[in-house]
Amino acid sequence: MFITLEGPDGSGKTTQARLLAGWLQEQGYPVVLAREPGGTAIGERIREVLHDPTHTGMAPWAEVFLYCAARAQLVAEVIRPALAAGQTVLCDRYADSTLAYQGYGRGLDLEALQRVLSLATGGLTPDLTFCLDISPEEGLARRQRGGEEWNRLDRETVEFHRRVRAGYLELAGREPRRWIVVDAARPVEAVQADLRALLRARWTGGGAPPAL
Ligand code: TMP
Repeated sequence: MFITLEGPDGSGKTTQARLLAGWLQEQGYPVVLAREPGGTAIGERIREVLHDPTHTGMAPWAEVFLYCAARAQLVAEVIRPALAAGQTVLCDRYADSTLAYQGYGRGLDLEALQRVLSLATGGLTPDLTFCLDISPEEGLARRQRGGEEWNRLDRETVEFHRRVRAGYLELAGREPRRWIVVDAARPVEAVQADLRALLRARWTGGGAPPAL
């Protein structure tokens, strides 16, 4: 089973992904946890280029291709082999991040982006995507409080981050069977409890449980 976590910056995806991976492992499911951009040696190098705050002149399509290059590597090196081996893959951001940030945020053509994404991923789509929803104000304040890595995109305007959030909600609305939106402005434990309950409900409701 391929699960992705999406959402605006500061929504707590990384913490939630780590906790969820630990819980799945306790349940006996072998889990591979990956993050984007990165998750491979090549991808981590690309991440450095993407997040470098001095790279202020990066062209929007250059940004797309860098994210997609890191993703193509992650799919080939980590995600497809893990799924083929029957493991559960939990990915902290994936192709929907490009639609939300470069599409809705930067205003690039969504259909053109879909074509590039389909090439980069070979058409591999998550079975389930959690959107951890939070307002840009709260999300960015959390990142500042948490002393997290401050990347090039954090410097975008609040308006940009509003478009990203609205974009996520639109994507979720278009594919309600794949997406579940969770209110991430609550304490970590409450959000995590929801994710576990939703995942359990998905399995008992006929969705395929991750293969053991
Ligand atoms: P994060 O690792 O802290 O989530 O940072 C990743 C940043 O990169 C975040 O600001 C979102 C951005 N991003 C994109 O703009 N497009 C993408 O395709 C991906 C994966 C991330």
